[in-house]
Amino acid sequence: MPLSVVILAAGQGKRMNSALPKVLQPLAGKPLLQHVLDTARDLDPAHVYVVYGHGGARVQAAFAQRAVDWVLQAEQLGTGHAVKQAIGLIPDDHTVLVMYGDVPLVRAACLGELVHKADSGALALLTVTLEDAAGYGRILRDTHGHVRGIVEHKDADAQQLSIREANTGLMAAPAARLREWLAGLGRNNAQAEYYLTDVVAIAVDSHAPIATIAVAHPVEVLGVNDRIQLARVEAAYRAERAEELMTAGATLADPTRIDIRGEVTVERDVFIDVGAVLIGTVHLGERVTVGPNCVIRDSTIGADTEIKANSVIEEASVGENSRIGPFARLRPGAQLERDVHIGNFVEVKNSSIDVGSKVNHLSYIGDAAVGSEVNVGAGTITCNYDGANKWQTVIEDGAFIGSGSMLVAPVTIGRNATVGAGSTITQSAAEGKLTLTRARQTTVENWMRPVKKG
Ligand code: UD1
Ligand code: CA
Repeated sequence: MPLSVVILAAGQGKRMNSALPKVLQPLAGKPLLQHVLDTARDLDPAHVYVVYGHGGARVQAAFAQRAVDWVLQAEQLGTGHAVKQAIGLIPDDHTVLVMYGDVPLVRAACLGELVHKADSGALALLTVTLEDAAGYGRILRDTHGHVRGIVEHKDADAQQLSIREANTGLMAAPAARLREWLAGLGRNNAQAEYYLTDVVAIAVDSHAPIATIAVAHPVEVLGVNDRIQLARVEAAYRAERAEELMTAGATLADPTRIDIRGEVTVERDVFIDVGAVLIGTVHLGERVTVGPNCVIRDSTIGADTEIKANSVIEEASVGENSRIGPFARLRPGAQLERDVHIGNFVEVKNSSIDVGSKVNHLSYIGDAAVGSEVNVGAGTITCNYDGANKWQTVIEDGAFIGSGSMLVAPVTIGRNATVGAGSTITQSAAEGKLTLTRARQTTVENWMRPVKKG
């Protein structure tokens, strides 16, 4: 049956104590709501409705480019009221899946099971058995084990509070039935709200089949109400990603001391030391090693390359068998071929560096095309900016740049050219020749150091 997903995201999230609406709080670098939307999309739904209210404009702006149907819940009168705002838009023959904007780790497989039950006519509930179910709605069953309803924590009596089977809030049902049941909701309860959970007793009264699915991994249904829970969810997410990397063949020096905020893929026998932060789309080839405290964002690292401690790599690509760092910085547009060495305190931006070239110490390479087998001496700077525009430096194959050289762009250093140390190069340096621009060394005879006045 066609699927319509309704994501409840109108709550304020008071307990976050934040100016940012709760569903925009980041988990692994992306908003909570985006995690939920991404999972919803995996179910291939016909429609995704997001019920919004608090921080409305900001929430919508954050998802402007996505195919989302926004449904305003102007007043937050409860979860049942929230679903009611969307149900009028959903055709009778759809299955409706209700998700929460603040439950980000739930997996598509688990939701798929719920949807499957609802496709065959049942009201399907996702439940979780908890040591301490405080705050959750409790699942009420009769002596035969049949579900009779859900009682909210605030409405429960002492006996009901001892029930450990809790409502996760996620449920699915045929749209036509859900519409009927929602029409029967009242707000005669401790919070004077329209509880979505009350549809269960109504469905039971109308002899609808009720199915429950117990969530396999309770972390999937962890909700985020405050920053402490957000940190727990982040830790759970991190642990899951770390396990994926290990399964794919990476050794992690300590799986609790790696941060993965995006789509990170690795090939076999990668080693990642502690403190690595991997953001966005990152790919590490076979046998890549990442030293302590490296940040790698949206980059590809070729096989056998070693990234040494404290390097920062963003929107860059590094070829095979290269050595980067320690303390190297590859900025957007750094394109390094294989066998390249980038050493400490070297910054590379928007530049290509061809096979076998070395920039080992204290240099800035910006807007440059560096050929193969080039050696850039310590402290070399491509002066790419004239205060108004950026210019390119070309260093051809086999060139040798002496230490402390300033290459004032636009400028070309010819093939196999040598630039003497300490030169400021403003015009092309000829192929195969030595070019230097420094004054001849002299010794001043009879010179005396100044003497401090008495
Ligand atoms: C809800 C369930 C409870 C379940 C728990 C699991 C109800 C009545 N209770 O309780 O059984 O154990 O989740 O976490 O459903 N929202 C709106 N509009 C509203 C109210 C809420 O969009 O008017 C959204 C919130 O933004 C949130 C979600 O619905 O994403 C859940 O609301 P919340 O108030 O946190 O429900 P709980 O009291 O936790
Ligand atoms: Ca909640």
